[in-house]
Amino acid sequence: MQIRLNKYISESGIASRRKSEELITQGRVVVNNKIVSDLSFKIDIEHDVVEVDGEKISPRRHLYFVLNKPKGFITSTSDEKKRNTVVELIKTKEKIFPVGRLDYNTTGVLLLTNDGDFANFLTHPKRRVPREYEVWLDRMLEEEDQKKLLKGIYIDGKKGVFAEVKFPNKKNRKLVNVVGEEGRNHFVKNMFRTLGYTVNGLNRKSFAGIKAEIPLGAYRSLTKDEITKVIAAYEK
Ligand code: URA
Repeated sequence: MQIRLNKYISESGIASRRKSEELITQGRVVVNNKIVSDLSFKIDIEHDVVEVDGEKISPRRHLYFVLNKPKGFITSTSDEKKRNTVVELIKTKEKIFPVGRLDYNTTGVLLLTNDGDFANFLTHPKRRVPREYEVWLDRMLEEEDQKKLLKGIYIDGKKGVFAEVKFPNKKNRKLVNVVGEEGRNHFVKNMFRTLGYTVNGLNRKSFAGIKAEIPLGAYRSLTKDEITKVIAAYEK
């Protein structure tokens, strides 16, 4: 299989895609004993030997996890305030990072990977990947407000909308299931806050159709089938 040299370098984990391009143009990359400074150069991953600054590199294995995030973990790879981070919950030596984010006290489905292309693919706003949430409100959601959430309301001058607003229990309008298709920070809380509600609890039930179906704090690898299906579903 052939891939671009800069992609191969970034997938080895030693540099970002941009930094990899710099390494190439600086003449620090050698393929089969020859310096390559052409950014469009493609290599055969099975046969070519790639060295950066004299060290042989090889691409990493891609990892894909789904975590059922518990409360009290920050969705980040490190935290200056020394709070617990979601990556600490996953036992791997590889450098993985979360796909999008959930607030400190939000629970539920969070994907983690070391595949930057996969993460960018799913979080790109144009894909409008669905995120399904269970929301516990401070008071019953009025019918008029349910309609507004479905029609769209403005948050910081930008329209936000839910694709679905449903009640799993018809008698309890404080518990609402919503589907949003964007990853703005605090999106669900801000949608409700704009209409005068406080979100007391938030749980993400699925992301891009992927469910966790494991206890809080547990994680599992995504199956090959889940990965292929999710890419096929949003590749447009
Ligand atoms: N929207 C929020 O407000 N918080 C989350 O954690 C996720 C979506």
